[in-house]
Amino acid sequence: MENTDWKNLGFGYSDTNYNVRCYFRNGEWGELEVSSSNQITMHMAATCLHYGQEAFEGLKAYRGKDGKIRVFRIDENAKRMQASAKGILMAELPVDKFKEAVFKAIKLNSEFVPPYGSGASLYIRPVLIGTGPQVGVKPANKYLFVVFVMPVGPYFKEGFKPTDYVIYREYDRAAPLGTGTIKVGGNYAASLRAGMRAHAEGYSAVLYLDAKEKKYIDECGPANFFGIKGNSYVTPKSESILPSITNKSLRQLALDMGLNVEERKVPVEELAEFTEAGACGTAAVISPVRSVYDADKDIRYTYGDEPGAITQKLYDKLINIQYGCEPDEHNWVSIVE
Ligand code: PLP
Ligand code: COI
Repeated sequence: MENTDWKNLGFGYSDTNYNVRCYFRNGEWGELEVSSSNQITMHMAATCLHYGQEAFEGLKAYRGKDGKIRVFRIDENAKRMQASAKGILMAELPVDKFKEAVFKAIKLNSEFVPPYGSGASLYIRPVLIGTGPQVGVKPANKYLFVVFVMPVGPYFKEGFKPTDYVIYREYDRAAPLGTGTIKVGGNYAASLRAGMRAHAEGYSAVLYLDAKEKKYIDECGPANFFGIKGNSYVTPKSESILPSITNKSLRQLALDMGLNVEERKVPVEELAEFTEAGACGTAAVISPVRSVYDADKDIRYTYGDEPGAITQKLYDKLINIQYGCEPDEHNWVSIVE
């Protein structure tokens, strides 16, 4: 990949050499298969097309200074995909098979893992779909699991620069007892209208409130939310947000740094009390929040044009572990052999 401008890569799809697939038929998962095609064919009555039997994951591989390729907390992604499968009655992929497929996809495409220091990484997208036909609303009896990869830069084009977020009360992403806690395509379809409006109005993403009462903060489009208040890292507890692996890691790192961690309901008015705020996720890493505009109440909460000191410290610690520059004290990193 000699001619790639790694430093200016955005977050988007590009073809690589191979993807890895596995089929569930007759009640069992088959062997992993390698494909060089970016196409899949399926029955026109496949349940993923009609009834949303689809779940995906997102994780990254990082090339360290030592040249080794590392992946971050892959077991957590494997387990979350099982939870997603359970939530919409799809066949669950064993954790070991998930890991084997991801490692295989990385190794087969290792020339696409960006060099250390470029700020880019290899984004890994595992996807699980119901491929068996149904016209009645029922789960499929056949499933396809595919892992494909691509080099990416920052999700928000500003990278680690604070950007603006917006609250609109007229859209919900997920219902309290619905599918908000699992990573299924329907949640993202439900978020498109609000997300595109936010972009058109100059915001990075929507900051969703809880769907039931519109009193508490849920999450930030494709990322969780945190605020810093005094010596505390505060992050929403909600029955409609995705349990972010990045957020879980930041909570641990915050504790390691001597901060208090508060995972609880966060009233929207508390936005006025934070000195720093951030969106966190695999694609977003930490995207510092410059402001949140409450569009219904015409209130703007601001956090400054530069990342706050605690946000910066958490970010440095997280990426240093991911790139293998600091000891991996919590055993989060696997090296791709
Ligand atoms: N929330 C949503 C809705 C997401 O799509 C993501 C991305 O996966 C996250 C939060 C962050 O989760 P993670 O840190 O596991 O990538
Ligand atoms: C991720 O952070 O991996 C995501 O899946 C977010 C988004 C690209 C949907």
